[in-house]
Amino acid sequence: MATDDRPTRRELEEGIERDFSRRMSYGDYLKLDVLLSAQQPLSDPPLHDELLFIIQHQTSELWLKLLVHELRSARRLLRSDDLAPALKRLARVKHVQHTLTDQWSVLATLTPSEYAEIRPYLATSSGFQSAQYREVEFLLGNKDADMVAVFEHDPAVQVELRRLLHEPSLYDEFIAFLHRRGYPVPEELLERDWSQPHRVNEGLVDVLAHVYEKPAEHWGVYETCEELVDVEDNFQQWRFRHLQVVTRTIGHKPGTGGSSGVDFLRRALDLTFFPELYAVRTRIGR
Ligand code: HEM
Repeated sequence: MATDDRPTRRELEEGIERDFSRRMSYGDYLKLDVLLSAQQPLSDPPLHDELLFIIQHQTSELWLKLLVHELRSARRLLRSDDLAPALKRLARVKHVQHTLTDQWSVLATLTPSEYAEIRPYLATSSGFQSAQYREVEFLLGNKDADMVAVFEHDPAVQVELRRLLHEPSLYDEFIAFLHRRGYPVPEELLERDWSQPHRVNEGLVDVLAHVYEKPAEHWGVYETCEELVDVEDNFQQWRFRHLQVVTRTIGHKPGTGGSSGVDFLRRALDLTFFPELYAVRTRIGR
């Protein structure tokens, strides 16, 4: 068909559902009445750009909810030695992370002048107080008991976060999995106070060096190591894009949450979840 013969209207087929008076619709299933009424700008009359600001944060929180769900499941699967399904979970985690990182470009369209108009309405609220973000960090192993205090105002959230703080992380479960597979994992990593952040352990680097020397002989473990590095890499990409967007939006002003702003955020770029998986790289081929 030549391009200018293309139709401008599509006929609706007979079988297409039209009457939802007694049947479930798309909006019913997704509770769109609840979801789409949750964007409530505080500016009055509403500032044009406040809707973008709200939606960017809300969509991030939705994706964080899925990340928590998938990471919890991956951790459970590793605990029961179901490696292949655990890796499937991590594959999805990585795609969600890419989406979260890519969506910074939308917020980057907010100019400093536009943000300055919204700023008074944000008061002391800040992404720093995102419980789901801390859940993801705790699940990956970046444990920090001080973060739990930030949720004193929300007991249900605080209980959940404290529970995660005291449970083994995904990385702790990976280390236990290595032990069950017969790798000589140092004892002190198998039973410890899980609320403390994992610290780099040379004995574990030795184990991983053995794996990376002969990948073909340790494929499942080797593949899992690389998946975990992808997840950490993606997490850092998100942190870096956040830092860049914050820098172009507020410069060196302090944050709404009370920190120094970009200097504070930059220090998070030095954090690592899986230190041995990076340390082993220095050993390879030397
Ligand atoms: C123009 C928009 C944004 C600005 C200017 C901004 C600024 C900041 C600043 C300055 C901090 C440090 C804590 C503070 O003093 O407030 C922070 C932390 C944080 N923000 Fe944002 N942010 C923005 C958008 C977002 C979005 C869309 C998210 C998505 C959920 C987000 C999530 C976070 C998280 C999770 C932290 C804690 C990071 C950490 O502990 O290292 N931010 N933000």
